[in-house]
Amino acid sequence: MSVNEWILTIDGPSGSGKGTVAQLVARKLGWHYLDSGALYRVLGVLALRKKMDLEDESSLADVARNLELSFQSGDVFLGSERISEEIRTEQTGNLASKIATMHPVREALLQWQRDCAKAPGLVADGRDMGTVVFPRAKYKIFLTASVSARAQRRFKQLRDKGFGVNIRRLLHEIAERDERDMNRVISPLRAADDAICLDSTNIGIDEVVSSVMNLVRFE
Ligand code: C5P
Repeated sequence: MSVNEWILTIDGPSGSGKGTVAQLVARKLGWHYLDSGALYRVLGVLALRKKMDLEDESSLADVARNLELSFQSGDVFLGSERISEEIRTEQTGNLASKIATMHPVREALLQWQRDCAKAPGLVADGRDMGTVVFPRAKYKIFLTASVSARAQRRFKQLRDKGFGVNIRRLLHEIAERDERDMNRVISPLRAADDAICLDSTNIGIDEVVSSVMNLVRFE
């Protein structure tokens, strides 16, 4: 059986719920989970810490090539340092989306992501999982929701984590990030031709999870 038979990709814009859905589905299936956005976010954190020149694509690609990143029980580790919270701020997300426009960086991260496809299966979430990283995956979902629904969710998430947020600024930042993710030249955010599109604006996460589970179980 080809490795692609047990890969499920979930792509979509920021705040569509894809991360939550992907984790829940991975847990139900007992499959591995790849949060590809975390890779770009960690690069954002490192660029800030190392005070790197954000125009210097080749140095950022070097850092990407040598990323000692791991996911353990829902947490993200850089070497032995747990950086799960640090990578979740809006500042890091915006920085990640800028770094994600760089071709050498995306190239450097490609194999790392493909190596995550291990038995018994992989659920991968991001922007280009179904189009570029795993174009032959058997199951592909494109999950979206209106900008205001996504901003509301992010607002709640960030507030629950104790981050101070302004909803109007959040709306603006999400719209700006969408614009950048959809219109970049390399690996823009778009649904793969063979992806199933789901809109979570008016349905709960549980319903989305059920639809995705049905797809994998019965297709
Ligand atoms: O999904 P998340 O919000 O964590 O991703 C942060 C940023 O990383 C996105 O705005 C996007 O620019 C970038 N990204 C990407 N390709 C992926 C995953 C994330 O370009 N597969």
